Amino acid sequence: MGMVQQLKMPINTELEPSTVFDCTVIQLPRIQTLAGSITVVNNCQEISFSIQRVYYLYDIPTGEARGGHAHKKLDQLIIAASGSFDVRVDDARIRHTVTLSRPNVGLYIPSGLWRELDDFSGGSICLVLASTLYNESDYIRDYSVFSELKRHK
Ligand code: TYD
Repeated sequence: MGMVQQLKMPINTELEPSTVFDCTVIQLPRIQTLAGSITVVNNCQEISFSIQRVYYLYDIPTGEARGGHAHKKLDQLIIAASGSFDVRVDDARIRHTVTLSRPNVGLYIPSGLWRELDDFSGGSICLVLASTLYNESDYIRDYSVFSELKRHK
C-alpha cells in the first residue's frame, strides 16, 4: 500500500499578531482661542507612525456602515473631525467598540485588525491618518479569511 501523505496548505503569515488591546484612544492637544480651536497631529509625536496619507469620509447616509476589512501593514489614526460614529475593532477573538465624538480624540489602530465603522451622526466627518499610500493588496475584505489567518497566530 502506498504511503498516504498529508499535504498541508501553507499558512499565510502576513498578518500581524496584534490584538484589540493594541488599539489606543489618544487624547490630542487642543489649542483653544476665543475664535475657535485647533488640534495638530505631528508625525511620530502624538502618534507612533509617520503619516503618508490623509483621507476623510463624509456625506455618509444614515444607517450606512464603512470599513469591514483589515489591513496587513497599515497603521491608522481615526478621528471624528465632526459629529460622531462607532468604530468596532476585532482581532478574531475579542471585539471592542469605541465611540468617537470629539475632534481632539483619535483611535489608533495598528496593522492586522478588523474594523467596522457605523452609527454615523448626520454630517459627521471621519478623518483618517494612515501610515502608507493606498494599496488594495494590503486589504483583507473577507472576515472568514481574516479570522483564519489571525487564529494561526
Ligand atoms: P474603502 O477603504 O473600502 O472604504 P471604507 O473602508 O471607508 O468603507 O474604500 C472605498 C473605495 O475608495 C474603494 O474603491 C477604494 C477607494 N479608495 C482609494 O482609492 N484610495 C484610498 O486611499 C481609500 C481609503 C479608498
